[in-house]
Amino acid sequence: MRLIALLLLGLLKFSLAQDRDPFQWLSSLHSHGYASLQADNTGGECPEECDCPPTFPIAMYCDNRNMKQMPYIPSRMKYVYLQHNQITSVPDNAFGNATNLVWVLLHENHINSVGKQAFAKLVDLDRLYLNNNNLTEVPSNLPRSLHDLRLNHNKITKLPPNAFEGMENLTILLLHNNGLQDISGLKGLKSLTLLDVSGNQLKKVPNGLPEMLHQLYLESNSIEAVPENFLGQFTNLQYVRISHNELTNKGIPQNTFNNSGLVELDLSFNKLESIPVVSTNLQHLYLQANQIKEFSLGSFCSVVDVMNFSKLQVLRLEGNEISAGDMPSEAALCLRLATDIAV
Ligand SMILES: *[C@@H]1O[C@H](CO)[C@@H](O)[C@H](O)[C@H]1NC(C)=O
Ligand SMILES: *[C@@H]1O[C@H](CO)[C@@H](O)[C@H](O)[C@H]1NC(C)=O
Ligand SMILES: *[C@@H]1O[C@H](CO)[C@@H](O)[C@H](O)[C@H]1NC(C)=O
Ligand SMILES: *[C@@H]1O[C@H](CO)[C@@H](O)[C@H](O)[C@H]1NC(C)=O
Ligand SMILES: *[C@@H]1O[C@H](CO)[C@@H](O)[C@H](O)[C@H]1NC(C)=O
Repeated sequence: MRLIALLLLGLLKFSLAQDRDPFQWLSSLHSHGYASLQADNTGGECPEECDCPPTFPIAMYCDNRNMKQMPYIPSRMKYVYLQHNQITSVPDNAFGNATNLVWVLLHENHINSVGKQAFAKLVDLDRLYLNNNNLTEVPSNLPRSLHDLRLNHNKITKLPPNAFEGMENLTILLLHNNGLQDISGLKGLKSLTLLDVSGNQLKKVPNGLPEMLHQLYLESNSIEAVPENFLGQFTNLQYVRISHNELTNKGIPQNTFNNSGLVELDLSFNKLESIPVVSTNLQHLYLQANQIKEFSLGSFCSVVDVMNFSKLQVLRLEGNEISAGDMPSEAALCLRLATDIAV
């Protein structure tokens, strides 16, 4: 008799869950103090303001729903999409028992407070997007397992020296468009290949950048000078962007950019008066909107060996104090691979 009653109750619960609106009280039994839950067809619970597709029961879609707080996250979840809402805080218990999370996407919210332990238990976290929020500091105790961390477009003014400690697999770190005046503590990021710190208030190229960098973006800061041999420390660096800074020729030691690994160098919108020496291997060079007064072929090619030509494909020089007529005739030999030269 008791067994039958339980079975009936089970059936009732199942059918109620199919049509939950009139029976909000039932789903509220599961509410855990957060928003109410529904049972989906797979038996997995899901906050009612989110979608948990039965075909992909470890993902929860809550993006674009005007949510003001973190929803309850069932413990089976690996991927949560919470971007583009109005969430203001991520409390310590935000992820509860959902310790298997791999992706947490929280970009485009209004987050200004994060509990000190909020992310600490997410030991498998791979991707954390917190960009376009209202953060004034890097959240504490971020998991060391991260590969991709996005904190751009916030109001972060300082990086604590241990902010990224032990993140040996971090590959992408986006910090652009914050209020950083200095950057340190990145040296140990031995897998980091992309660092974007553009749009901050840096006055110099940060010391101790990780050696495996492949792309380094420093544009739109207030950098006046680069350190002697600063590219020499990198073995894989291919893309360097320092446009929209305060660079002068005095601030660029002689062979700084004559680095045979570079593929792209962007020094546009600075205060250069002459063309720095670059390697013959460079393919893209952006120098527009400087104060360059002379087309010095020796900056690109050997002037004695015409067979030693430049691999430049793109050379942008418009908005300087030279015109096409200032290009020496040997330029045709030296820049024979260039398909896009603008003077
Ligand atoms: C988390 O798991 C523990 C132990 O399994 C349980 O007692 C607790 O109720 C769970 N908390 C939440 C928020 O689900
Ligand atoms: C960001 O935080 C400041 C206070 O630090 C607040 O005045 C502002 O309204 C917040 N902006 C958003 C978009 O949440
Ligand atoms: C980094 O990745 C390796 C290989 O997948 C893994 O063994 C190691 O535990 C990871 N390190 C951290 C801190 O998660
Ligand atoms: C550029 O560097 C190479 C070595 O990589 C060197 O042989 C060459 O002289 C340098 N070019 C200039 C113009 O200093
Ligand atoms: C070609 O010329 C450049 C610039 O002067 C120099 O750095 C490089 O060593 C030369 N390469 C060869 C193969 O001669």
